[in-house]
Amino acid sequence: MAKRKTKYVCQECGYESMKWMGKCPGCQSWNSMVEEFEAKPSKKERGFVTSSTTTPSKPQPITKIENTKEQRYDTYIKELNRVLGGGIVPGSLVLVGGDPGIGKSTLLLQVSGEIAKHGQRVLYISGEESIKQTKLRADRLHITSDELYVLAETDVELIERSIEEMSPTIVIIDSIQTVYLDNVTSAPGSVAQVRESTAAFMRIAKTKGIAIFIVGHVTKQGAIAGPRLLEHMVDSVLYFEGERHHTFRILRAVKNRFGSTNEIGIFEMKEVGLEEVVNPSEIFLEERSEGAAGSAVVASMEGTRTVLVEIQSLISPTSFGNPRRMATGIDHNRISLIMAVLEKRVGMLLQNQDAYIKVAGGVKLDEPSIDLAITIAIASSFRNTPTSPTDVIIGEVGLTGEIRRVSRVEQRVIEASKLGFKRVIIPEKNIGGWTVPKGIEVLGVNTINEALEVTLGGITSGSPRFEL
Ligand code: TYD
Ligand code: MG
Repeated sequence: MAKRKTKYVCQECGYESMKWMGKCPGCQSWNSMVEEFEAKPSKKERGFVTSSTTTPSKPQPITKIENTKEQRYDTYIKELNRVLGGGIVPGSLVLVGGDPGIGKSTLLLQVSGEIAKHGQRVLYISGEESIKQTKLRADRLHITSDELYVLAETDVELIERSIEEMSPTIVIIDSIQTVYLDNVTSAPGSVAQVRESTAAFMRIAKTKGIAIFIVGHVTKQGAIAGPRLLEHMVDSVLYFEGERHHTFRILRAVKNRFGSTNEIGIFEMKEVGLEEVVNPSEIFLEERSEGAAGSAVVASMEGTRTVLVEIQSLISPTSFGNPRRMATGIDHNRISLIMAVLEKRVGMLLQNQDAYIKVAGGVKLDEPSIDLAITIAIASSFRNTPTSPTDVIIGEVGLTGEIRRVSRVEQRVIEASKLGFKRVIIPEKNIGGWTVPKGIEVLGVNTINEALEVTLGGITSGSPRFEL
C-alpha cells in the first residue's frame, strides 16, 4: 500500500512543515506541531466558490457597476446591529470568538430567538450540547418561536444536507471546534479540520446566500486550534470579552467586511440571559465614591460611541523588593511609561512606590486619550489629594510631558455634559473649531504640570503625603 503523506502543522498558527520541530518558526510557540495526514480536499471543498467559477467575469469600469441597496437582516438587538455595521448581511460568514463560558452560546441563541420571532427561519446547530440542553437554555431565555430549529450534529456533510432541506435564512454553528469533515483525517478541533470546515461553511454561505455564524473558542494554551487562524477566511470577526466574574460583556468587531471595526456592544449577563446596556457610562460610574483620592474620570471613544469610565489608582510605598506595577484593563507598559514621565517631568518620586491601576467595571481601554486621566489618578493617590468629582480628564501624554491632541473631542465633551459633569480638561490644541455645550466648562492644558495645577492644585512633586 502506498504510504500516506503526512505533515506537521502548528496547532496555534497553522504553520506547516515536513518534519517535526519543537518550536514553531511561525509563532514561536513550543510543542505545538502535530502530525496530520495530507488530505487532498476537492476544489469544491476548498471553498471560496464565487460567481467567477460559474460564469467567467470580465473587468468592468467601476462607474458601470450597478448600485444595489445592501439588504440586511435586523437582529433586534441594537448592540449587535451596531457591531455588525447595521445588521446581518445575507451570505456572510461571521466568526464569534471568545473564552469558554463567556456567553457566546447564550448570545447566539438569544439572537436566533429574536430573529425567529420576527418570522425568519433560523437553524441552530449545536455540537456541544444535546437538543434537550439547548431547549433548557432556550426556556431560561424565554424563547418561544416555531421558526427556530435546533439540531445536534457535528458532521459537516449532514449539516449541509439539513441546511439544504430547511433553507433557513440564518445558521448558527456552535462550535467550529466540534464539527468535522469525513475526508479530513485529523481530529475535530485540529487546524486542518477547523480550516476545512470553515471553508465548507463559507461555500454554503456564499452559494446559498445564507448568513452563517460560527462560534470559536479561544484557549490560552492553544490545545485546540484557535479561531485566530480563521480570521482571514471569514467576512467578520467578533470577539466576546469580559471577565467571568464581572457581569459586563463586551462584543467587539475586529474585522468587518460590511462595516466599521472598533465598534463595541455592551451587554450585561443576567439570570435571564444577556441584556443590552444602553447607557454604559452611567453604569460604569455608578459605584464611584466621590472625593476619594486616586480616581479620575475619562471620556474614551469606543468605536463611534463615547464611554465615560473611572480610572482608579493606588500608590503606596514598597515594603520590600522591587516596586510592583499592576494594571487591570490597561496595558501595564503604558503605566510604566506614564510613571517615568511623572518622575522626570514633574519630579515625583515614584521609584519606591507600588502602583495599582484599575479601570472600574472590568472594561479594557487602549485609546491614547486616557493617558492624562491615568496620570492625574496616579498623582492624586500619591499626594492623597482627591480630584473634583465633576471633572472629566482627556488627553494623550507625550514623553516630554506635553499633552497631545485627541480625536472627536466635541463628542466626548457632549457626553460628559449629558452626564452632569461640570468641567472637562482637554489638550490646549483641541480648543476651538467646535461648539462647547452649555453648562460645562472646557479647560485646555499644554503640559502635565498645567494639568496637575488645575486638577490637584499645584505642586505635586516631592515625597508622598499621607493622612495621619
Ligand atoms: P455560555 O453561553 O454557555 O458560554 P460559551 O458558549 O461562550 O461557552 O455561557 C455560560 C455562562 O453564562 C454560564 O456561566 C452561565 C451564564 N448564564 C447566565 O448567567 N444567565 C443565563 O441566562 C445563561 C443562559 C447563562
Ligand atoms: Mg457554548
